[in-house]
Amino acid sequence: MKRYRDIAGDGGSDIAGQVEAQQARLRSRLAAVKRIVAVVSGKGGVGKSSLTAGLAACFATDGRRVGVLDADLNGPTMAKMLGVRGRQLVVTGAGVEPPRSALGVKVMSMDLLLPTDATPLEWEAPTQSESHTWRGTMEANALREFLADTCWGELDLLLLDLPPGADRLATVAALVPGLAGSVVVTIPSDVAHLVVRRSITVAARARAPVLGLVENMAGLFPGPDAAALAREAGIPFLGRVPFDPELAAAADRGEAFVALRPEAPAARALRAVAAGIRAALGDA
Ligand SMILES: Nc1ncnc2c1ncn2[C@@H]1O[C@H](COP(=O)(O)OP(=O)(O)O)[C@@H](O)[C@H]1O
Ligand SMILES: [Mg+2]
Repeated sequence: MKRYRDIAGDGGSDIAGQVEAQQARLRSRLAAVKRIVAVVSGKGGVGKSSLTAGLAACFATDGRRVGVLDADLNGPTMAKMLGVRGRQLVVTGAGVEPPRSALGVKVMSMDLLLPTDATPLEWEAPTQSESHTWRGTMEANALREFLADTCWGELDLLLLDLPPGADRLATVAALVPGLAGSVVVTIPSDVAHLVVRRSITVAARARAPVLGLVENMAGLFPGPDAAALAREAGIPFLGRVPFDPELAAAADRGEAFVALRPEAPAARALRAVAAGIRAALGDA
């Protein structure tokens, strides 16, 4: 497949120029963002999005200026979890104004752009066999656009909620010039550990450091020790967030659990994980 740089003459549409301009916009936008941290896991359904929403709430409660980019283009959940679903996007000359959660977290998600619940995101490819390559390219393009065209303003922290898959971090690390690090999420099951062990290896190879491993849904079932997994992998263990049905219910209502039930063990655990991340970042 041709890369944009290979297209010598493109009929005057100046694709190369457009991409360069977007890259420049991305750099200047992100210059106002102090730290960018990706939340990752090879496994789906382990609570990457819940953790992202919970951490964003912790940092916002602490007075930090926080943004969340929902990088899960095919299964976006951040707008729902942060209670901004259905908000009208305001587009100005400077870009798209992201809606803010009740705690002031700025959110950008494909969910805010898709017309209806039932419409999935489809990548148009010239042929079916090309659609896989195309999807990767289009996803990277869409993320670049999201990052470059959103008016994030000045932020202390921008959290990226990634889709499941070990390879996703590499795409994001290539896009985001100064990715500060990644947080890997697992749950107490052998199946999850099997996959997450690989994600840690991949994350460790990315340009950004692995800030640590979080065990989510702790206590839901007896399973292997996440602290041991972190130790074996040579990365910090950031803590365990207990399974709490109220946390899931709050997310479904778009409410911040840590603000709703600050004394609940899961809220305390989220604050401890946030503190660990802050320490790993040198107090972001
Ligand atoms: N600690 C927890 N306690 C209870 N439910 C949780 C917890 N973490 C996540 N969930 C629930 O599990 C489901 C999957 O979580 P989600 O954050 O969407 O996972 P992922 O982003 O990794 O696919 C959601 O319904 C969420 O509310
Ligand atoms: Mg998710």
